[in-house]
Amino acid sequence: MNTFVYYNPTRLYFGSGSLEQLTNLVPQYGTNVLVVYGGGSIKKNGVYDRVIQQLAGVNAKVHELSGVEPNPRLSTVNKGIDICKKENIELILAVGGGSVIDCTKAIAIGAKYEGNVWDIITRKATGNAALPFGTVLTLAATGSEMNSGSVITNWETQEKLGWGSPLVFPKFSILDPEFTFSVPKDQTVYGMVDIMSHVLEQYFNHTGNTPVQDGFCETILRTVIAAAPKLLDNLQSYEHRETILYSGTMALNGTLAMGVRGDWATHNIEHAVSAVYDIPHGGGLAILFPNWMGHVLDEGVTRFKQFAVNVFDIDPAGKSDRETALEGIQALRSFWSSIGAPSRLADYGITDEKLEIMADKTMVYGPFGHFKTLQREDVLEIYRKSL
Ligand code: NZQ
Ligand code: ZN
Repeated sequence: MNTFVYYNPTRLYFGSGSLEQLTNLVPQYGTNVLVVYGGGSIKKNGVYDRVIQQLAGVNAKVHELSGVEPNPRLSTVNKGIDICKKENIELILAVGGGSVIDCTKAIAIGAKYEGNVWDIITRKATGNAALPFGTVLTLAATGSEMNSGSVITNWETQEKLGWGSPLVFPKFSILDPEFTFSVPKDQTVYGMVDIMSHVLEQYFNHTGNTPVQDGFCETILRTVIAAAPKLLDNLQSYEHRETILYSGTMALNGTLAMGVRGDWATHNIEHAVSAVYDIPHGGGLAILFPNWMGHVLDEGVTRFKQFAVNVFDIDPAGKSDRETALEGIQALRSFWSSIGAPSRLADYGITDEKLEIMADKTMVYGPFGHFKTLQREDVLEIYRKSL
């Protein structure tokens, strides 16, 4: 294992009825509240009304920022910052999926920063304070509810950049599986692909002596693989929604990263695609991850063999390690196809036209990836294989 420090200050409230905790939580930070949400799903499924009712119960003064885009945009972040500054907001409440939460993180730090928040997102500045914020999660996917990362798109420059700060851990997050019942089939699939991808990014490492971490990763992967078809058969299943919701948080709240250096190349490669084509993050990952795997396989064949055997029950008898490893990659591809995830960039109408532009975008911070360091040429090859 690597030397590590673990820190996660987010209070997690998980399960049916957890929303009632808002009554205790909100007054701890102040009752001048900005509620941030997306394009209206929370109005259709009743979550908005329930949140507003809780806030009314503590006599909160409620301001709203709605219309946060999937792949949230800098322009929306700036609108939120303006409201916070003008209205002296004391607490922000994000109600939605990862996009709403990521947008809220940028608003929270931007509201306490004199300059342009884009400086922080582009890692030119760090900021030294943030408004407190909590989340009510409505979609299992990103883990943003219990981590300090955020991904923001500058649509003018077509940049989609990840950033993070210990200042933007949510103070609290409320996770009620029932709030995810209304997530449509396609978003449910994207969410599960994203969850699995977060685990895979951390599982493929060269650290050594990580049996507990490996076991955590393999358990989450096997659990999602087992639950996915059952959930897609019955999107209202509390049991399976609960399993996936918990998996999503555990996949990216720092637990799997203890003592391990993850790879994270595929996320960078996907963000460049979303920056140019505005496709769903999970959809992009389903296309790119198996091709990243094929590209880096020879950096660690035994790791890929372990993945094949322990996650997909591939029988290694009579096969070379490489053959077993390749079967594992194929099994992942087949599994994602079986639940309806896309497998080619062409599924989103993406051709070879802008591959060079996307490859340039992956290189903003130089060569990347820890399982194998990728150069621009590697990225182009992965894109070409994904067409
Ligand atoms: O906008 P509304 O109307 O709310 O609809 C959303 C949106 O259209 C809908 N939705 C959410 N909850 C729903 C629902 N529809 C019905 N019922 C519900 N209960 O789902 C759509 C997608 O929502 P979004 O928040 O965009 O999805 P997700 O949670 O997958 O977030 C994706 C964003 O997070 C970033 C991605 O790059 C992308 O920008 N990521 C953030 C990470 C982090 N902060 O740690 C890590 C991830 O790897 C990822 O990069
Ligand atoms: Zn992701």
